[in-house]
Amino acid sequence: MKGKFIVLEGPDRCGKSTQAKMLYNQLVARGKDVILTREPGGTPTAERIRQIVLEPGLDVRPLAELLLYEASRAQHTQEKILPALEEGKTVICERYTMSTCAYQGYGRGIPLETIDILNKIATRGTQPDLTLVFLMSDKYFTQRGEYLFSDRLEQEDLAFRQKMRKGYLEMIERTPNAYLIDADKNISDIQARVLELLKEHLIIV
Ligand SMILES: Nc1ncnc2c1ncn2[C@@H]1O[C@H](COP(=O)(O)OP(=O)(O)O)[C@@H](O)[C@H]1O
Ligand SMILES: [Mg+2]
Repeated sequence: MKGKFIVLEGPDRCGKSTQAKMLYNQLVARGKDVILTREPGGTPTAERIRQIVLEPGLDVRPLAELLLYEASRAQHTQEKILPALEEGKTVICERYTMSTCAYQGYGRGIPLETIDILNKIATRGTQPDLTLVFLMSDKYFTQRGEYLFSDRLEQEDLAFRQKMRKGYLEMIERTPNAYLIDADKNISDIQARVLELLKEHLIIV
């Protein structure tokens, strides 16, 4: 592929959108042809699927949820990511295959082998040139969120977040070109680390 594919992964509120926008602006300022996109969503069809997946209170069972995410990914990859990479563009994408392994696999307990197969089909084997995995201490979760939880939900969420954290750490170990980003740090320190990794991977000079 001619272009470079950069993926930002990690749980909610750890700063992915913040850093993705800053990175986009940095690359544009350096004269790169770059697109910023996200999952689930990224195209009109995939955004419609995103609405179903994220609608509060809708009964979506884990397997259906997985297949919806993969449907969204298949559309997004074919319609937007692959054409951009073929044109030599840099693609920055918030969330990709690793999020599905973390949430539906480590979180909800669907076998990782099942998810890996579906990920390969939906992505047509496309792999990021660089995966940045943002992880922060749990104490910042409530601090950085605008939402209020009941105690019960907050407890459930804590256990779920811990399972996912373990999952992300394991996946970093076995994924080529994947790096842990310490999301506890301040916004400019994180940005400096992100740019350093892009330099190491010859995406920028
Ligand atoms: N390094 C940081 N330190 C403190 N707050 C941050 C940091 N990065 C992002 N935030 C804030 O935390 C909240 C969640 O950030 P966001 O980028 O939307 O996370 P995500 O996209 O991963 O859910 C936002 O209010 C954002 O301004
Ligand atoms: Mg975000």
